[in-house]
Amino acid sequence: MPKAYVPPVLHADLTGKTVLITGANTGIGFEAAKHFARMAPARLIVACRSEEKGLRAVQSKFPAARVNWMCCLFLLQGQPIDIVVANAGMASREYTLTEDGLEQNLQVNHVSTALLSALLLPNLVKAAREHHSRSRLVIVASGVHHSIRFSEAVTSSPMILDALSSAEYCTPEVMQRRYDETKLLNVFFTRALAAHLPPALPVVPTAVDPGFCFSELRRHLPQAEQALYAAHDAAAGRSAEEGARQLVWAAVGPDGARDGDAALQLRGAYVATAAVVPPSRYVLSDEGRAVQERIWVRRSCWSVGFDADGLPRRRLWWCSRRWALRGIRSFRDECRGMCVGRCYVYV
Ligand SMILES: NC(=O)c1ccc[n+]([C@@H]2O[C@H](COP(=O)([O-])OP(=O)(O)OC[C@H]3O[C@@H](n4cnc5c(N)ncnc54)[C@H](OP(=O)(O)O)[C@@H]3O)[C@@H](O)[C@H]2O)c1
Repeated sequence: MPKAYVPPVLHADLTGKTVLITGANTGIGFEAAKHFARMAPARLIVACRSEEKGLRAVQSKFPAARVNWMCCLFLLQGQPIDIVVANAGMASREYTLTEDGLEQNLQVNHVSTALLSALLLPNLVKAAREHHSRSRLVIVASGVHHSIRFSEAVTSSPMILDALSSAEYCTPEVMQRRYDETKLLNVFFTRALAAHLPPALPVVPTAVDPGFCFSELRRHLPQAEQALYAAHDAAAGRSAEEGARQLVWAAVGPDGARDGDAALQLRGAYVATAAVVPPSRYVLSDEGRAVQERIWVRRSCWSVGFDADGLPRRRLWWCSRRWALRGIRSFRDECRGMCVGRCYVYV
């Protein structure tokens, strides 16, 4: 089977801008970091959980890069960030609960991504105001969301994330599709965020599918499954660099250097192969829309509106009763521990 054509990377001038990418020490995130680096941003923030891996990755490609500072998420408070690419993700068939009582794929791929996005919203707004532009929030989803819909048992639960994390629900059969479920949640989250942000807020949230790529993503899967994927990758897969082009397109598209009103097409949109395309029929259906809203409103995401600076009008809260009691300060800590770890800033 011939490999499908992947358009070349879109280029933009990022002079004076700040870009943050999570999970940027390897795979698609690392390749995206390299593309952004070529666009000369003032700061490229490579957010990863391992200092060793982060430094090794960057120094392998940019031996002359100057590590300006290393920080945790809270040090980014008040810093303008023009582009956030929430890329970190994992795929495991093992049922494991995190210390927060959430199934781990769900926590890493959806919960951490959503929390990080919310916490960085004021940074994005600040950058947009300072640079008279629109900031971009790119959520890395996947085409596998097309194969998933949630059962009535899940969607009717008062606590959707708790239901999705429960041992009763997470049978081996469900764990086979758990990664795909988290990617559906990425799409729902992006659309819900776009729908709930004040229309005038200069932030464009976009979900993107990098396509089926060679990377370390399948490292936790059983050996036999890894072998199957390797065969598929060889026949039809994209390189991580080709996947990264999609992240870049979602972040600076559709017109790259001009950064005009066309960017509004990407607000809440789903991007694949350098184009806005429809998400799954389930997402667009009345049923999907209802689930999206329930995930947003019913404490399985959070129940907030945003003020003109992108700050939540009410305190963020979460599905877990424990978290609901702890408030926004602990979200900051959780988010830092779960998803970002450390940020390495290279200039
Ligand atoms: N590869 C594909 O075919 C494909 C297709 C569609 C969508 N995607 C999406 O693309 C994104 C990047 O995946 P990839 O293929 O590049 O995979 P990858 O090579 O495995 O890279 C994943 C990145 O996420 C980080 N990460 C994983 N778990 C984390 C955690 N608990 N906390 C913080 N960081 C964590 C990894 O850090 P460590 O190295 O420290 O583990 C790594 O930097 C993911 O969101 C994935 O779902 C991939």
